[in-house]
Amino acid sequence: MDIIYHGHSCIQLIAGDKSLIIDPFLRGNPLATTKAEEIKTDAVLLTHAHMDHILDADQIALNNDAPVVANPELAAYMSWKGVKTIGMNIGGTLDLGFAKAKMVQAFHSSGIVVEEDKTILYGGMPAGYIVNMEQLNVLHAGDTALFGDMKMIGDRHSIDIAFIPIGDHYTMGIDDALQAAIWYNAKLVVPVHYNTFPVIRQEAESFVQQLQERGIKGKVLKPGEKITV
Ligand code: NI
Ligand code: MN
Repeated sequence: MDIIYHGHSCIQLIAGDKSLIIDPFLRGNPLATTKAEEIKTDAVLLTHAHMDHILDADQIALNNDAPVVANPELAAYMSWKGVKTIGMNIGGTLDLGFAKAKMVQAFHSSGIVVEEDKTILYGGMPAGYIVNMEQLNVLHAGDTALFGDMKMIGDRHSIDIAFIPIGDHYTMGIDDALQAAIWYNAKLVVPVHYNTFPVIRQEAESFVQQLQERGIKGKVLKPGEKITV
């Protein structure tokens, strides 16, 4: 399987001629190296209803005639943009044919601020995904704080690669992310959700070094970087 880190929390998993992308945020990301119109994919998975996770979802879904997978409330919102949607909820597993995606808990918020109406649209429960593809389990933790059931998730699933936020302010910072890495018990940890904006600036290499000191393999990916696993 190939995995491309598109920056912020956006990752794309590719197996043969099939792929899925999680949390596309490209045109709003000053660090992104790929344009939304260049993405070829078969499904768009969303963790929660914040703009830095959903901004390019409708365009990519429409361009590729691909479904958007999200919690029921966010799926309904996306359907009003004319895209095909699959609503699911935490605990469920979706079989996409080429991959299975289990929606797992994250501890965060989820909603869409409509400035002109001074309204906030309820965005359903935030989540992460464990994607099983080509016999590998890839965790996208979503935006999350540290919570104790990360250990339960790690105990119940053999996670090969975990993408976990380290940016602080909106999510875990490095100290809590180190504990999350221990609890998720992944064979490889990749930090995400940092450096996109000044408020989430972090030293990702320092995080990886602290992982190694705890016997955990970590890897920093640059936006646009692809790894084969
Ligand atoms: Ni968020
Ligand atoms: Mn976010």
